[in-house]
Amino acid sequence: MEKQFITHFESIESYNHLNEIEKTLFDKALKIREIAYAPYSDFTVGCAILLENGEIITGSNQENAAYPSGLCAERTTIFYTGANFPGVKIKKLFVIGAPRKATSSTPIPPCGACRQSILEYEAKQEETIEIYFASVAGEIFKTKSIRDLLPFSFDSSFL
Ligand code: THU
Repeated sequence: MEKQFITHFESIESYNHLNEIEKTLFDKALKIREIAYAPYSDFTVGCAILLENGEIITGSNQENAAYPSGLCAERTTIFYTGANFPGVKIKKLFVIGAPRKATSSTPIPPCGACRQSILEYEAKQEETIEIYFASVAGEIFKTKSIRDLLPFSFDSSFL
């Protein structure tokens, strides 16, 4: 018997369609992206996380001459958040990535390892995290949960 997963996401046409807090997250992700450390790929990524207390944590990708030792923006940011605010829930995660000089592109979704890491925090806090991924030009895709980006996810319930 064939079965299907249905994934839901919202396509937000442009920056102007975001509400105030979403605009702030977009601005902060775009800004922190400017100082991403990505000398090897020249693909720069910025991430902004909104906490339930209103605080916003930002981060960027951090590369390494030993390539696999580098880390994506989403994990840099969510691990910092987990380390420093372990009891504070994450409401939203906003990510913008593109080649450094790109002016327009399609929204770049989080990589598989980042999805798995985000899932861990969503499961830990027993509350979904809204994920936004945007192009530098301002088109944005939004999901209500990381599970929309990670069907057949592996979590601690299997251990
Ligand atoms: N990268 C991210 O920061 N997030 C992703 O979800 C995809 C990829 C980074 C890793 C590396 O520094 C560069 O983008 C090219 O892969």
